[in-house]
Amino acid sequence: MDMHICKNYEDLSTKACAHVVGQIAGKENSVLGLATGGTPEGMYKNLAEQHEKGELSFQHVTTFNLDEYIGLPTYHPLSYRAYMKAHLFSKVDLSAVNTHLPDGQAADLTAECARYEALLRDAGGVDLQVLGLGHNGHIGFNEPGTPFSSTTHIVELDEKTREANARYFEKKSDVPRKAITMGIETILAAREILVLISGADKAEALREMLYREITNEFPATALQQHPNVTILADEQAAKELPGQ
Ligand code: F6R
Repeated sequence: MDMHICKNYEDLSTKACAHVVGQIAGKENSVLGLATGGTPEGMYKNLAEQHEKGELSFQHVTTFNLDEYIGLPTYHPLSYRAYMKAHLFSKVDLSAVNTHLPDGQAADLTAECARYEALLRDAGGVDLQVLGLGHNGHIGFNEPGTPFSSTTHIVELDEKTREANARYFEKKSDVPRKAITMGIETILAAREILVLISGADKAEALREMLYREITNEFPATALQQHPNVTILADEQAAKELPGQ
């Protein structure tokens, strides 16, 4: 894994943006795997600014998000579709038909998982997958215990995850209990993975991701098996690493 320690969140966001720009510059019809959450917000802001300045086009890019809540209407402001619209889709020239998220409102959710997995495969797979890291080691919504052989599936969200995401909702009981997520096998199939980790509260999780034995009790340890992972961590997140 290629580890870069960034001065702070701004620096991390600038470098993350540059990484995505480099990907698109090298392949204009790139397939990007995208994450939601607090960590990539700065990267999306920078990408939108570069587009605004006329320096970056997503015209030929296709995107696949990692996950979506089950039960929130797509027009709900806290759906991941709404998050992506607010932070990226409405600000760049991505074609609507090229932006994909699992449909958490599908009548047949099992069929939806299979449809999403097939869509990804038909698009040729993900060139660059952006990931955040959960405190409990989740990647996407793959909570501890998820088999590494998992493909897109329905998950019961861990209480810790619901607590972490409660900051966006009025109260914790409003946080959905289920979601659809790409599986660990789906994530590891990406040709390259970019992991963004910011803040002191993620320091322990980053250390575990890098140094714990590979175990599905800490899903992010699966990344140790991938040949092309870049990690951008800010100094706060890196403070528990050996030598820091
Ligand atoms: C988001 C996702 C999650 C987040 C993780 C970190 O699509 O799949 O795995 O990346 O929960 O979230 P933040 O960045 O809010 O700390």
